[in-house]
Amino acid sequence: MKLEFKDALKFDFSNLSLKQQDFDLIKDKIKNAWKNIKEIRQGKILAHGEPALFMGLPYQDKEKINKINSWAKDVKENYDTVVSLGIGGSYLGNKTLQDALAHPYYNECKEARAGWPKIYFAGDNLDPYRLNALLDIIDIKSTKFIIISKSGGTVEPMSSFAVILDRIKKANGNIKKQITAITDESKGLLREMVNKYGWDSFIVPDGIGGRWTVLSEVGLVTAAAAGINIEELLLGAKKMDELCQNENVFKNPAFLYAASVYILYKNKNKNITVIMPYSNSLKSVGDWYVQLLAESLGKKIDKNNKVVNEGRTPIPALGTTDMHAQTQQHIEGANIRSLTFIGIEDFKENDIIIPEVFNDYKGIAFIGKMKMSKILSAAMLSNEMSLAEAGRPNCNIKLPELNAFYLGQLLYFFEMATAFEGELLNVNSYDQPGVEAYKKIMKKILL
Ligand code: PA5
Repeated sequence: MKLEFKDALKFDFSNLSLKQQDFDLIKDKIKNAWKNIKEIRQGKILAHGEPALFMGLPYQDKEKINKINSWAKDVKENYDTVVSLGIGGSYLGNKTLQDALAHPYYNECKEARAGWPKIYFAGDNLDPYRLNALLDIIDIKSTKFIIISKSGGTVEPMSSFAVILDRIKKANGNIKKQITAITDESKGLLREMVNKYGWDSFIVPDGIGGRWTVLSEVGLVTAAAAGINIEELLLGAKKMDELCQNENVFKNPAFLYAASVYILYKNKNKNITVIMPYSNSLKSVGDWYVQLLAESLGKKIDKNNKVVNEGRTPIPALGTTDMHAQTQQHIEGANIRSLTFIGIEDFKENDIIIPEVFNDYKGIAFIGKMKMSKILSAAMLSNEMSLAEAGRPNCNIKLPELNAFYLGQLLYFFEMATAFEGELLNVNSYDQPGVEAYKKIMKKILL
């Protein structure tokens, strides 16, 4: 099963080795999932709670984009550095956009930044050493801090934020100007602070839980501060949204992916999913997808309140790096996983031709004059083939090139696939009671 569309990602699900009968067995579930997704898209409140509005994100109005871009322009003109503080859904998407679309050594390379500020991430842990180290390298007064928290009560980012506010004060910085908050529109502790101190602010939209917010102001603001083309990102998401509106599961990429991994998980005992991009720039996509899948589908109860303890286990890997670490197990270990590879077809001007300096060494001379990307694709293909030969299901998604348009497609594809899979599993993909539970206990321990 291969799906190709004009100006879009390419999907090759052939190595998942699924047959028509496999899909026939779940045809009622597929029908029901489609119906539910349609209702979710229409903003209808389903039995499991509030509406899920992430499908509206590709269609955000121009005014909102202009506001973000003009904020970013101001940051470019007035600050050397931006520090984005957040955790979970208020961090992973932002890091993914930065890693995928900015120069791999963005902070170190002035030319690549082209006048945009350096970008650092913090608040995604409680490691005092790392925060101290960050404070060692930034100039506090010429840094813009973006604090992102829907609730404003999450201990990790708020602890770092407290330290930073104190440092700005001690350095006689400008607290009012140096802070931008992204939080709930009207409620929560951070919104209270925005109202009190008059900080710039953006909104974590209602009906869009943290892990679904990468294409909302949460992800777009930090991306815009690095000069990333956020309009293209949304155009990519829109393109994918259009492709995902086909009721025919075999013509809808996200629906087909979701149905396939569902079959593999429920009927073929593949309860681990390895997500393996073949590019360092896309490594964070794996981490982001891990959260999306784990928090959305890892659920104790289904929509009928039945205990199901559902959800595949996602594992991130990086090609080719992890072929020298995990591939042995993928090919010969327990046959309990499916693998999703992500490749880039054309590295454009960033490709390298390997010079012929090893011509005297027969065993390695063949790499001379080859494009490095050709060797990278051969590595991915050989991994796919060895896995298929060993009866290990795998599939690939290919980006024609790495840019904001195709990344927008990729991220939105995974969001839609997760939404479809949640409906197939009959779980609420939009809550996270497990995370809330730990947050509550941690506060009790500390109080
Ligand atoms: O996906 C989620 O809902 C979580 O990962 C949250 O984004 C994370 O816990 C941070 O929450 P908050 O934005 O309220 O600080």
